[in-house]
Amino acid sequence: MRTQVGIVGAGPAGLLLGHLLHLNGIDTVIVENRDREYVVDRVRAGVLEQGTVDLLAAIGVGAGLESRGLRHDGIFISFAGRRHRIDMAELTGGKAITVYGQNEVVRDLIDARVATQRPLYFDAQCVEVNALDSSTPIVRFVHGDTAHELQCDFIAGCDGFHGVCRPSIPEGVLSIYERSYPFGWLGILAEAAPSSDELVYTYHDRGFALFSMRSTSITRLYLQVPPDEPIERWPDDAIWEEMLTRMTTSDGWQPNVGRILQKGVTPMRSFVAAPMRHGRLFLAGDAAHIVPPTGAKGLNLAASDVVVLARALKAFYETGSTDWLEQYSAICLRRVWKAQRFSWWMTTLLHRLPDLTEFDRQRQLADLDYLIGSRAAMTSLAEQYVGLPQDF
Ligand code: FAD
Ligand code: DHB
Repeated sequence: MRTQVGIVGAGPAGLLLGHLLHLNGIDTVIVENRDREYVVDRVRAGVLEQGTVDLLAAIGVGAGLESRGLRHDGIFISFAGRRHRIDMAELTGGKAITVYGQNEVVRDLIDARVATQRPLYFDAQCVEVNALDSSTPIVRFVHGDTAHELQCDFIAGCDGFHGVCRPSIPEGVLSIYERSYPFGWLGILAEAAPSSDELVYTYHDRGFALFSMRSTSITRLYLQVPPDEPIERWPDDAIWEEMLTRMTTSDGWQPNVGRILQKGVTPMRSFVAAPMRHGRLFLAGDAAHIVPPTGAKGLNLAASDVVVLARALKAFYETGSTDWLEQYSAICLRRVWKAQRFSWWMTTLLHRLPDLTEFDRQRQLADLDYLIGSRAAMTSLAEQYVGLPQDF
């Protein structure tokens, strides 16, 4: 087989890139190693920046988002038993975030892909990328009983943190910047109407907690737990007891309790591989970088990477110029590092470190007190949370 751009991975990055390139008449084949149900049902991100929302609407995949997305103009920061609202829309000239599950985004993008009739292989096995330095890089994979060789002009490595593309880059090419955190998040989906219209980020002496949602009947909640915490240690009653202990505020606000539909533990990591390119392989999204989830940036960064990549590829096919492709990594990394900094800041502001001293605790409380008392500090949080402008 032959295509212009071979895309490895059908997560948000790969699917969105496929659609952006389709709209520019560029031929792609998407190769995904999981089945369609697994890819759609995987419970992950929920917060879309204003720019991501605008992008999905502009490329014709915004119908579900328009009808079922929940626009939030503000968030709450809770500490010492009180919730404080940050009015993001007022502080950013009308920008907001939208709560719409990543699995909904992925479902909408798969439907859009299927409608284009361009190839999308699920359940591909033995996926490999080769000849990255040549003018015809190759994706090999097995689908059903057939071994495929896909010759490409370019390969987009959109296969997430545990994919094959980044490890296929020869040793010594990439610089790795990494930091792990001594805690993880236990996340649940619960059959309970959200008891607040907006997210609540809670700093508590027992650890961080986050109130979010997926719809008007489903609540999504997270708890700071030790890293690699076995989920078996957390029967449903224990989860609710801890959630309520950390989140209940002195005015009596607390999440509504309901049947737990899904639960799991996620480790926290900051990671950047640079440059985000080797030869004719371009890395995008989690394949190149991971942020701790506190700032809700991962999915949005994946989207902004592929916008840059799609523009660079469009310029190449229209004019033959590789200028934008040469600049792809540098353009993306500027935004990636700002999101890294923001996610690290939100994480260290709100989590309880295992070796926290009383000095550190007082400093965190002072940071929080400063944040909710200063319009400048709230504006800084707000403009980063709704998403910094894309700078090309
Ligand atoms: P992925 O979604 O990981 O997609 C990669 C795809 O490649 C997958 O479908 C995978 O199956 C496939 N693949 C892997 N290996 C291969 C292979 N060898 N061959 C072929 N295909 C392969 N981000 C936000 O912006 N906001 C949030 O609120 C938020 N909350 C989060 C909460 C949690 C609990 C977690 C875990 C993450 C959260 N994130 C959030 C991060 C977000 O989910 C990721 O950043 C996002 O999924 C990245 O998209 P991606 O397409 O780059 O990678
Ligand atoms: C959600 C996840 C996040 O990481 C976050 O910061 C806010 C909300 C969510 O899954 O709803």
